[in-house]
Amino acid sequence: MAESDVQPLLTPLEMGPFHLRNRVVMAPMTRNRAENEGKIPVEIMATYYSQRASAGLIITEGSQVSPQGVGYMNTPGIHSKEQVEGWKRVTKAVHERGGTIFLQLWHVGRVSHPDFYGGDLPVAPSPINPETEAYTPLGLKKTVVPRELSTAEVRDVVRDFVRGAQNAREAGFDGVEVHGANGYLIEQFLRDSANHRTDEYGGSIENRSRFLMEIVDGVGGAIGRNRVGVRLSPANTWNIPPDSDTKRLYEAVIGRLSGTGLAYLHLREKAADVSGIPNMVVNVTEHFRPLFKGILMTNTGFDRESGNRVISSGLADLVAFGVPFISNPDLVERFKRKLPLNAPDQSTFYMGGVKGYIDYPTHA
Ligand SMILES: Cc1cc2nc3c(=O)[nH]c(=O)nc-3n(C[C@H](O)[C@H](O)[C@H](O)COP(=O)(O)O)c2cc1C
Repeated sequence: MAESDVQPLLTPLEMGPFHLRNRVVMAPMTRNRAENEGKIPVEIMATYYSQRASAGLIITEGSQVSPQGVGYMNTPGIHSKEQVEGWKRVTKAVHERGGTIFLQLWHVGRVSHPDFYGGDLPVAPSPINPETEAYTPLGLKKTVVPRELSTAEVRDVVRDFVRGAQNAREAGFDGVEVHGANGYLIEQFLRDSANHRTDEYGGSIENRSRFLMEIVDGVGGAIGRNRVGVRLSPANTWNIPPDSDTKRLYEAVIGRLSGTGLAYLHLREKAADVSGIPNMVVNVTEHFRPLFKGILMTNTGFDRESGNRVISSGLADLVAFGVPFISNPDLVERFKRKLPLNAPDQSTFYMGGVKGYIDYPTHA
C-alpha cells in the first residue's frame, strides 16, 4: 500500500489491556516545571501533557521514586501523598482527551550532588565519580565520589520502585516505564564501568542485572507486567562509560526480559558516534529486535518518514518522539496531514514557566 494511503505510524496497536490509537509515542522528557520543595506536579503540567494526548502513548518525564533519587531542580517525584495528588490532575486531563499515559520511574544514583541532600553523598553501586556535572540548587557543580549502597539498601531501592509504581496507579497512570537508560542508577548497576560490587548485585552479568530484574519483577507483581515498560540505552555514553562488553551485556539483559509479558521494551538508538568503541552495538534496534519477543519501541532521531520506515520494516512496533513533541503538541495531526513542524526552542527545555512549554501553536 502506498504511504499516502496508510502511514504505519498512524495505525493502531493492541498493547496488553490498551488500545493505542497510533504508534506515535511521546518520549519521556524532563522539563523541570514541578514545584521544587515537594517535587509536586503543578497545573501547567496537566495542560502540557493533555495538549499532547493524541499520542498513541505518553511517557512522562522521569519521576523520582524517593528523595534519594533526585539529581535535578524542579523534577517531580512519585513517593509522597502530595505528589500523587498533583499527578491526578495530569492523568485526569490526559484521560479526558482519550489518551494513555505511563509514568517513568527514575533514580539518578550518582548523577547528583550533596547540595540535594543537605551535604550527604549521592548513592551508587560503587564509589566511582561519574565525572560529570550536576545542576544543583546552587548552580552547576562537578559531581563527587558517591557512597556505595549496602546490600540491604539496594533492596530498599527496589522497594522504592515498587512503591512508586503503586503510587503511579493510585495517581491514575495506566502503567509505568522503568528508567534503565541514560547513565542513571539502573544503568550504573548494569555496567562494569560503574559497578565494582562483590555482593550478589555485582560481578557477573547475571549479578549486575539482578537489580533491574528485581525491580521489573517487583513492579510487575504489584501492578501487572502488562502495565510495565522498560527503557534501555545500549549505545549510551552519556553520564557513564561503556561496559567492557556492552554487546554481550545487553544481549543477556534483553534475552532475560524477552517473552515475559512486559507492555514493551523501549530502546534508544545511539545519540553520539560510538563506532570506535569496542563491543558497542551501533544499530541498536536492528541488532536487538530478534532477541526480544514482545512489543518493541524505538527512539532517537526519528522523523515521520524514518518512523514509518522502521515500523513497516518490522524492526519496531512503536516509535517514541522526544524533541518533536516538545514543539508540536499536535504532532500526530501534523504527521497525518504531512504538515511542517514548529522548530524547538532549546533555551526553554529545562527552564521553569509556561514559555516554550504550553505555548507552542497547533497547526491552523
Ligand atoms: C528536554 C529533554 C529531557 C529529557 N528527559 C528524559 C527523561 O526524563 N527520561 C528519559 O528516559 N529520557 C529523557 N530524554 C531523552 C528523550 O526521551 C529522547 O530519548 C531523546 O530526546 C531522543 O529522542 P528524539 O530524537 O526524538 O528527541 C530527554 C530529552 C530531552 C530533549
